[in-house]
Amino acid sequence: MPLYNAKFSSFGSFAPKKVVNNFDMEKLVETSDEWIRTRTGMFERHYASAEEAASDLAVHAATNAIEASSVKYKDIDLIIVGTVTGDHPFPSTGCMVQKKLGLKNIPAFDVSAGCTGFVYAVEVARNFVESGNAQNVLVIGVDVLTKITNWNDRNTCVLFGDGAGATIVSRAGKGDISRIIDALIFADGSQSDLLYQAAGGSRMPASHETVDKNLHTVYMEGNKIYKNAIRSMFASTEELLRRNKLEVKDIDWVVPHQANLRIIEGLAEKLHLPMSKVIVNIEKYGNTSSGTIPLAADEAIRSKKIRRGDMIVLTSFGAGLTWGSILARY
Ligand code: ACO
Repeated sequence: MPLYNAKFSSFGSFAPKKVVNNFDMEKLVETSDEWIRTRTGMFERHYASAEEAASDLAVHAATNAIEASSVKYKDIDLIIVGTVTGDHPFPSTGCMVQKKLGLKNIPAFDVSAGCTGFVYAVEVARNFVESGNAQNVLVIGVDVLTKITNWNDRNTCVLFGDGAGATIVSRAGKGDISRIIDALIFADGSQSDLLYQAAGGSRMPASHETVDKNLHTVYMEGNKIYKNAIRSMFASTEELLRRNKLEVKDIDWVVPHQANLRIIEGLAEKLHLPMSKVIVNIEKYGNTSSGTIPLAADEAIRSKKIRRGDMIVLTSFGAGLTWGSILARY
C-alpha cells in the first residue's frame, strides 16, 4: 500500500526555434508533402541548432513547468530525464539539468526507454512519491533525434523533430482531487533490433568505419513497429482501465505518443474512443520521442482543453521495445 498519493502539479514544454516543413523535406530526399501528410499526419517539425543539446531544451521545459506550479526550485528533491539523445553518453542529462537549474544535494538520473522514456520516468517518480522518498520530482521527456538522423534515409528522416516537455510529480494533499491513479510499463527486449542506434555504445564503439557507414543514426523497421504500436498502447490502456474498474467513456482525454496520426487513429478506433477526446499536435512537431507526450499535454492544458479533475490517459511505445500507460486525474 502506498504511503502517499502522487499527482501532476503542472506541465511545461519547449521546442527549438527552427521550423522545417514538408516542402523543405522535399528538397532533401525523394518525398512529397502529400506522402508525408497522408502517411504520418506531419507537416512541420522543430530542429535544434548546432549549439543546442538535450539539456538546453530540457531546462526550458523544466522552467516552464516549475513556473506553472506552486513548487519552488528548492522544493524539488529528484530529477529524472527520459531520453535517448542525452548531451553525452555520460554523465546523465539529469545531472546537466541539475547544474543548469542550480539545484544542489539531490539525486538526478536518466531513463532510457525510447519514445516511452517520459512514461517510464513518470512511473519511477510516482513510486518515489508514493513511498515517501520524494515530495516533488521534476520529470522531463526530451529528445534531439535530429542529431542522430540519417538524412539520406527518407523512411526515417521525415518523421523526427526535437522537443522537450516536463512535469512535476508531487505528493498530493489530503482532499486533493488530482492524483496519478495507476500505471503500467512493459518491455520486450526480443524485439530490440526493430529500432536502434547501432554504433556509439560498447557493442560497436565509434570508429572511422562506423561514421562512414552512418551507424550512429536511427535504424528503424517502421512497418513492424507500426503494428506493435497500436496493439501495445491498446493493451496497456485497456488493462489499466479494467483493473481500476473504469470504462473508456470515463476517460476525458487520451494523450498518446505522437509517432504517426494513423497509429493514433488506429488506437482510438480500437478503444472505441472518439478522436475529439484525443490530444494530437503531430502536424506541428513530428515525432520528438520522449518529448511528445509532455509537449502535447502542456499545450492541451494551456489551451484549457485538459482541466483540473479531468480523467486522462498518457500512453506510449518505442524502442526496446517498450510501452506503457498512465491513468490520472489531472
Ligand atoms: N516519402 C515517400 N515515400 C516514402 C517515404 C517518404 N518519406 N518513406 C517511405 N516511402 C515509401 C517506401 O519506400 C515504400 O515504397 P515501396 O512500396 O516502393 O517500397 C512506400 O513508401 C511504403 O512504405 P511503408 O514503410 O510500407 O509505409 P508505411 O505506410 O508503413 O509508413 C511509416 C511508414 C510512416 C514509417 C510507418 O510505418 C510508421 O509510422 N511506423 C511507425 C514508426 C514509429 O512509430 N516509430 C516510433 C518509435 S520512434 C522512437 O522510439 C525513437
